[in-house]
Amino acid sequence: MQNSSLLPSRPKLILAAGLILLSVIIAALSLTNLKPEQMGSGTALIGGPFTMVNEKGETVTEKSFAGKYMLLFFGFTNCGDVCPTELQVMAAAFTEMGALSETITPIFVSIDPERDSPQVMADYVKNFHPRLQGLTGTPDQVAAFAKIYHIFYQKVPNPKNPADYEMDHSSILYLMGPDGKFIKHFTYTTDAKGLAEALKKVLQP
Ligand code: NI
Repeated sequence: MQNSSLLPSRPKLILAAGLILLSVIIAALSLTNLKPEQMGSGTALIGGPFTMVNEKGETVTEKSFAGKYMLLFFGFTNCGDVCPTELQVMAAAFTEMGALSETITPIFVSIDPERDSPQVMADYVKNFHPRLQGLTGTPDQVAAFAKIYHIFYQKVPNPKNPADYEMDHSSILYLMGPDGKFIKHFTYTTDAKGLAEALKKVLQP
């Protein structure tokens, strides 16, 4: 008789267990659904593995910069205005930051590999900051690098001189973390003081 009194409660128990299991599954599903939304800003997708050549002619990869913050700027050494201005802003921000800036590796990345050989890069970067590194590579290496950083660039023929060309390119600074992950970007309009303040906030929150 004990058994018969227990019988009606068993389906209830099974039902309750089933409902709990179902809610756990729903909760798990909604959590996994959140992830793509959180990544929707696209910031998590900036950067990644690469192979490039530095201004000393050495092959470098993302592992060469592991453990250090990277401040990246993309451009070309023949740039008449935007690139030199931005590199001066970068250097002035580092001066403003003092010793704190030493935790950041400043990097100028060429999007004009045909003209910007390692030697050309070496001669160029030393004009701006003693620690400024220059990255270039084969056209394919540079294209792959620009792609993972979502950098646009394009050759523009010089109408006055068919042998010459300019480069259109995104003018953006990227701060990457010691883990190689994207932290923050700065637009061309950020001045040295603003850049120094923003970098300080990241390094000394
Ligand atoms: Ni430029």
